[in-house]
Amino acid sequence: MKDLTIDNITDNVHIINSRCPDVRLRFLLERLVVRLHDFTRETRLSIPEWQAALEFIKQVGQVSSDVRHEFILLSDVLGLSLLVDSIDHPKPDGATGGTVLGPFHTHEAENKAAGESISADQDSNRCLWPVDGVKVDVWETDSKGFYDVQYNNRSGPDGRGVLVSDADGCFHFKAIVPVPYPIPDDGPVGKLLCKLNRHPYRPSHMHFRFHKPGFGQLITALYVRGSKYETSDAVFGVRQSLIVDITKVADEEGWADKYGVESSTALLRYDFVLLTEEESNKLREEKARDEAERQGGCELRMGFWSRSRR
Ligand SMILES: [Fe+2]
Repeated sequence: MKDLTIDNITDNVHIINSRCPDVRLRFLLERLVVRLHDFTRETRLSIPEWQAALEFIKQVGQVSSDVRHEFILLSDVLGLSLLVDSIDHPKPDGATGGTVLGPFHTHEAENKAAGESISADQDSNRCLWPVDGVKVDVWETDSKGFYDVQYNNRSGPDGRGVLVSDADGCFHFKAIVPVPYPIPDDGPVGKLLCKLNRHPYRPSHMHFRFHKPGFGQLITALYVRGSKYETSDAVFGVRQSLIVDITKVADEEGWADKYGVESSTALLRYDFVLLTEEESNKLREEKARDEAERQGGCELRMGFWSRSRR
């Protein structure tokens, strides 16, 4: 097409992109271009605003590294991460809900034996976490609110570990009682929050990621009840079902001896409920079909089937 205008540029981009053989990619790009162009027309976007947006994205890339995931942070503070997880990991009643992965998961956590501590931090309350579940990758900040990867002089992984459940599906480990902390706010995402008059804090929480062949992925976190920012999490990760009470080991008869800790040790326990991979896939496809139905029965155009075959 020639003589492209405000009104016909969108259709032209669709025509050019329509040669893409990947149905799902074609659909994603089509919808992205529609939303992007509509946003631009609706807001009457100016050149300086467009340039500021591109400069912002450039800065997000420049500050990113293997240990600083500013794009995940951006996705988190815009509510996108929670939205994607909710869509891609739908959960029926009774299954543990997911939440944001966040930018601080790493693949370097060491394997821990049952009852071992994941944290070398001596400055905080120790906490015993017996957890009914399967296999878990767990990570948290130190008592000052920093993840290990945020220290330039760190000597290795800390505040994180990988545990394997026992035959009863149980596992436990020692950690520190989580504290609230600000997401890194010295980069472009922090500046954006400041402009939006938003604070950068997350309520006290610990992250969990479950792996087990045959089970759907669960990325979640537990939030300490009553923590500051419980209702204003900067990344929208809190779910009511993931808020937990911290009690004392003394509340459970014989546990101090059983787990080899002082009875005054803080205790957090939680039953995680995983879906099988089959249940998880079935539910995801049901929800996708519902959405396709809502959009007028366009499953094939949306590429759901090519997607599920990947
Ligand atoms: Fe976190």
